[in-house]
This record gives sequence, C-alpha cells and structure tokens, in this order.
Amino acid sequence: MPEAALELANVRLTYKNFVALDGMSLRLEPGEVVCLLGPSGCGKTTSLRMAAGLEQPESGEVRIDGKVVTDQKTFLPPEKRNVAFMFQDYALFPHLTVLKNVAFGLKALPKAERLPAARAALKRVSMDGYEEHYPHMLSGGQQQRVALARALVTKPKLLLLDEPFSGLDISLRAEMRDDTLHLIKESQAAAVLVTHDPEEAMFMGDRIVLMDKGQVVQEGTPQELYFNPKNPFAASFFGEINMVPGEAKDGEIITPLGAIRSTELPDNTEVDVLIRPEAIHLCPCDTLFEGMPMAEVETSRLLGKSSLMHLTLLDEEHPIHIHARVQGNFLPEIGEKFGLGVNNELTFVFERSATT
Ligand SMILES: Nc1ncnc2c1ncn2[C@@H]1O[C@H](COP(=O)(O)OP(=O)(O)OP(=O)(O)O)[C@@H](O)[C@H]1O
Ligand SMILES: [Mg+2]
Repeated sequence: MPEAALELANVRLTYKNFVALDGMSLRLEPGEVVCLLGPSGCGKTTSLRMAAGLEQPESGEVRIDGKVVTDQKTFLPPEKRNVAFMFQDYALFPHLTVLKNVAFGLKALPKAERLPAARAALKRVSMDGYEEHYPHMLSGGQQQRVALARALVTKPKLLLLDEPFSGLDISLRAEMRDDTLHLIKESQAAAVLVTHDPEEAMFMGDRIVLMDKGQVVQEGTPQELYFNPKNPFAASFFGEINMVPGEAKDGEIITPLGAIRSTELPDNTEVDVLIRPEAIHLCPCDTLFEGMPMAEVETSRLLGKSSLMHLTLLDEEHPIHIHARVQGNFLPEIGEKFGLGVNNELTFVFERSATT
C-alpha cells in the first residue's frame, strides 16, 4: 500500500481552556480529494493549520507522505513540508503583480525558469493576459484563480484549501468548483478541501470527513454519508430533514406516515425517524389505498430545480408538519390533499436516546 499523502493521528489541540481538536484523525491517499465538512467552529481550519505546520498540537502525530512532520519531538516548519495552501482570503501580495505573485513560491527553480513556469500556471487557470495586473485590479473570482495558480505552480503533492469559494457568487462558485476540481485532478495532488456546504463537499470530494466538536463523526464516500448516516447529526447535516416519532412493533417501525422499514428492535422501542424531504412522494387521489397517510398542502414554493411543499398530516391528534421536495414544476394549490409515500432509502431510524 502506498504511503498516505497526509495523516493526522489522534491529534489534540487546546487554545487556552478550549479543546479545538479532540482526537482528530484523518488519512488521505495520494491523489485523493477529501472534503472536511462540519459546522462553524468544529475545528476544520485548525486541522488544516495543523497539517500545514502552523499549529503545534499537544499530542498526536502528523505525517506527510509517510514521514513524521509533527509529533512530541518533531516539528517541521511549513516551508519544508512540500504543501501548498490556499486560505479563504486568497492572501495575494498586494504590492506584487499577478505574475510575480505566482512566481513567488518558485525560489527553488533557476531564475530563468521561474517566470515561464508562472506564465504557464496562469494560462492553466485562464488568467493569461493579466500578468502585469495588481491584485486590487482583479475581481474576487480572478483573484481566486491567481491564488489557485500560485498554489499549483510548485507542483505540490499535497494541497490544503480552506473554504476557497466562499467569497464568490453562486454561478461563479459553481464554475470555480468545477475548474478547481479538474485542475487538482490533473495535477495529481492530494487535496483537503474545507467547506461547510454539504453540496460542495459531495461535488468535490472523493471522500467526505464530517466533523463536529473537534472530532470525526463519520467518514466515507458522499453516497455513504448521504444514504447511511451514522447518527442524527450526520443525517441532518446534509440539508433540512423531517423528524417524526416512531415505535417498533412486530418487526416494523410504526410512524404517523405509516409502517416504515423493517427493524430488529424489540417491540415498544421508541425511535426518531428522520426522513429527507425528497423521500416523500405525493400521490394523487386516484392512486390512494386504504389506510394511506394523507396530508394537506399548506404552501408550495418553487426553488428552481425543485419545489418545496409544506404539508400538514391529516388525521393526527397534534398537527405534524412535513416538508416534501418534488420536481420544480409541480406546484399544487393550498388545501389540496394527497396521499403520502415514503422512500425507505432516504429514511433513517435512530433509537430515541441517540437524538439530542
Ligand atoms: N487562536 C485561537 N485562540 C482561541 N480559540 C481559537 C483560536 N483559533 C480557533 N479557535 C477556536 O477553536 C475552534 C475551532 O476553530 P476553527 O477555526 O478550526 O473552526 P472551523 O471549523 O474552521 O469554523 P468555520 O467554519 O467557522 O471557519 C473554534 O471554536 C474557535 O473559536
Ligand atoms: Mg474555518
């Protein structure tokens, strides 16, 4: 097996009394793109700074390409780690031209080769023609491209990107994500990309590492996290989710939306059932069957690719509010009634004690 491009092993770091990383571990294979995903303050940036050599942990180890760069006895400075990083604010040097910004990291090359290499890197990010501009003359997206060229020009084996697209508007962000992913893959660098946007993580990541409170909650492919979340936190991190109460009975989970998937839990075990909005299907009146759960439309909103239905379950003692996400051109009237079907694949059952 090849050496991991990056490994954080059981890293612990505290700022004064605050535990920012609490046994954080991560392994990145060569050429792999891993997205570090999690809520604000969970320790994503700290993990990257640790890998880059900008923070020293209390305990644990950091290895790059199989070599220990941080442990109790070792601390290799950032410039010796063959790592390129790109932080949220791009941090271009304001007094240097675009070309010189990109050439800056190429001190190791003979002088005559530096500017041609920088020019080639700018061409790769479609910024040729801007060589003599200064950073303040560029838009956010253009600065982002230059920063990316600067990160890639040294041909690093490891690339660390901290929320690189957060300052861009939606369409530019989508374009930059796509370009960046192709450039990273083309360069064959392994990359850790920090984001708090699950869709971005699924778009960019070969694998996703989901963090909370300084620890890894779950890691796996986007499919694994989306279809098999380990706990309610992981289930709800990928977008808004419905939660209804349920109870095990005769090998099934009984909920206000009917009997959902089989279970081995003993009878009367109380559970929370988390249902993704796109798991709920609205069935028109002519396809209903006896005992089917029914709901009334409260409002329906077009969101572009999809529409969101706000529904109230009928025949319930206390009103239960449900969101369903359906195809964008389906916008029923307020008060219309539908039967509800549920896709088990996007429905997750957790024992009540696991939900906080
Ligand atoms: N220099 C510091 N001194 C004290 N506390 C810090 C310092 N840097 C970070 N922290 C704290 O450590 C925790 C983790 O911070 P970190 O920047 O890694 O979070 P993050 O996951 O990147 O969040 P965000 O999504 O908001 O960028 C936060 O609660 C933060 O307040
Ligand atoms: Mg951060």
